[in-house]
Amino acid sequence: MIPNTDHIIQFGMNAAATILITGGAGFIGSRYVRRLVKDHPKWSIRVLDLLTYSGSLSNLAGLEGQIQFIRGDIADPEAARDAVSGCGLVVNCAAESHVDRSLVDGAPFERTNIEGVRVLLEAAVAAGVDRFLQVSTDEVYGDLGPTAAPSVEGSPLRPTSPYAISKAAGDAMVLAAHAEYGLETVLTRGANTFGPHQYPEKIIPLFITNAMLGYSIPVYGDGSAVRDYIHVDDHCRGLSLALEHGVAGGTYNLGGGLRVSALEIAESIVTAVNDDKSMIRFVRDRPSHDMRYCMDSSLAKSIGWQPSADFQSQLHDTIDWYVNNRSWWEPIRNTSTFKQWMTSWYDDRS
Ligand code: TYD
Repeated sequence: MIPNTDHIIQFGMNAAATILITGGAGFIGSRYVRRLVKDHPKWSIRVLDLLTYSGSLSNLAGLEGQIQFIRGDIADPEAARDAVSGCGLVVNCAAESHVDRSLVDGAPFERTNIEGVRVLLEAAVAAGVDRFLQVSTDEVYGDLGPTAAPSVEGSPLRPTSPYAISKAAGDAMVLAAHAEYGLETVLTRGANTFGPHQYPEKIIPLFITNAMLGYSIPVYGDGSAVRDYIHVDDHCRGLSLALEHGVAGGTYNLGGGLRVSALEIAESIVTAVNDDKSMIRFVRDRPSHDMRYCMDSSLAKSIGWQPSADFQSQLHDTIDWYVNNRSWWEPIRNTSTFKQWMTSWYDDRS
């Protein structure tokens, strides 16, 4: 139940609002847009998305006429200003998010996750938006090693990859915009997120689609690195709660408290898809691989959030989605961008 606290803000289910979702054609962004369309029929929903390699209008299929779509870059001041204009609420889901790519070329990460956040915040301050939600990640806390206590929102940030460093810098700018300009910001830090429409470079959709295509399953090192996982619908519910009930200037961890290794994921997936564990290959590890993330999400729970189901059932639903939606992911895997990535990153790892 949501506690009745005085920081709950004014825009309720029935009030009209104009909301901008940046990165709204991406994995988490598009799922969040669908949630808003359903939950807030009176809201005007505007999406700004650059449609880079991992974003696609196919993620928003069926919403034509219900949302406004603008193609543009959050790091472009004119595009950001135009998109923010007239919006009371801004939710920034736009991000470069794949750690491995950031280890090869950090430039797009700097541009979107640092420069883009700065430009978008400036546009939001100038336009006088009511509330700005920044979607961030548990990776900003860095590697917990085997025994450290779960990260709380005030824990030090020790990001290790160019991706995590860029997100930590974005987080710092969001908090500074609240402190310096009084912008009502809310920051969420989600655990590894999975579910339908995730670009198949991340572990879960990569392993599912590899298994379906009969390719090997590349587990880094000995597969013992652990992550906390949440389903994209749980993540999006957390975004809604944080936007509508979060304290201004607040940060909310969104984690399930799980400890799931890459090898466990590989085994669950190959067992479900083709029951052939011989397809698992231990490959050269990612450089400076963080071995464990884990968050304490008590603050998010205090505003009514918690994961909705157990990881294994959500993983199996996700496997079913990829099995039944080959027409969504096969064209992606057939693009030259995807093939080049697979060749350049994986070919010399085995
Ligand atoms: P990933 O989905 O890239 O998320 P992140 O590194 O941002 O948490 O990877 C999740 C875990 O899976 C991480 O420990 C690395 C591991 N992994 C593999 O073992 N093989 C792979 O091919 C990939 C992409 C990830």
